[in-house]
Amino acid sequence: MTIDALGRPLHDLRISVTDRCNFRCVYCMPKEIYGRGYQFLPKDQLLTFEELGRIARAFASVGTRKIRLTGGEPLMRRGLEILVADLATIPDVEVTLTTNGALLADRAQALRDAGLDRITVSLDALDDEVFKCMNDVDFPVAKVLAGIEAAEGAGLPVKVNMVVRRGLNESAIVPMARFFREKGHILRFIEYMDVGHTNGWRLDDVVPAREIVRLIGAELPIEPVGANYVGEVAERWRYVDGSGEIGVIASVTQAFCKDCTRARLSAEGKVYTCLFATAGTDLRDRLRAGATDAQLAAAISEVWAARTDRYSELRSSETAGLHKIEMSYIGG
Ligand SMILES: C[S@@+](CC[C@H](N)C(=O)[O-])C[C@H]1O[C@@H](n2cnc3c(N)ncnc32)[C@H](O)[C@@H]1O
Ligand code: SF4
Repeated sequence: MTIDALGRPLHDLRISVTDRCNFRCVYCMPKEIYGRGYQFLPKDQLLTFEELGRIARAFASVGTRKIRLTGGEPLMRRGLEILVADLATIPDVEVTLTTNGALLADRAQALRDAGLDRITVSLDALDDEVFKCMNDVDFPVAKVLAGIEAAEGAGLPVKVNMVVRRGLNESAIVPMARFFREKGHILRFIEYMDVGHTNGWRLDDVVPAREIVRLIGAELPIEPVGANYVGEVAERWRYVDGSGEIGVIASVTQAFCKDCTRARLSAEGKVYTCLFATAGTDLRDRLRAGATDAQLAAAISEVWAARTDRYSELRSSETAGLHKIEMSYIGG
């Protein structure tokens, strides 16, 4: 197993399969910047499915046990099921996907049939007005809910992610908790993070996890539960009446760098060892220059062994000025 300079294993890989998205979430790809004219990666610069399969296997050979496909919006990458089917053949590796759900209703069964193990769907509110303020493309809640239902119907275990941004969707916290408790899906609340630089992040816009837990607990009694495994980023809480659980991801107010076991691969084949990294290591050119599987694995191990990142623990006025990579590119 490959261990970094702070003793953390390389357990997870997040792959951004495209930097494009059909939403313009205000906290991720704000319209002012990602509107018409924004330069997304040209097609020939994206890793092909064959290249992604080789890189994924190289990661697995150095200890990676979980792969999450993300983006941008991963379902915008045509034929994604083909990639899932290939990755699903890697022994002992779980294949998961994070999606905004917009295109999920028609694809859920094919993804499950291809071998997808689990799915996470992002949804920030149940009220159309509020949701549209977040996605900024007038996308209705009902279509995302239809995607969630289709995933469930296809036999995929579903979790739901909700980013909370002060002043925009705090009112959705308790209704979302109630709704997904009834549906039986784990809902995870994510603190709005200072990832990238286009979202104009301010600390004042973060609703701390403590406050989220307090708001829910006041209406639906909850109690803390221990982590399922080392490196689980969500802090778990369960409803006292036994009706399920929620998670809170407090990446701003309670950094979890010490247990972070994730690498990220951008759509053009650069490896990043932190969500807040400013530079990555290119694998695509090595691959296209004829690198063997062993050479790829060695390059990955070398990058990971040198890893000292703990941005969220250090987050300060000094790190605030860094030119951080956008989440849609690096893979959220
Ligand atoms: C970048 S998205 C990519 C996958 C897919 N498009 C989606 O929205 O689920 C992955 C996750 O990152 C979250 N996210 C994006 N920007 C964020 C930010 N600034 N702070 C916290 N979470 C963020 C999204 O809500 C989503 O759950
Ligand atoms: S959070 Fe996901 S859906 Fe929203 S803009 Fe970013 S990549 Fe797209």
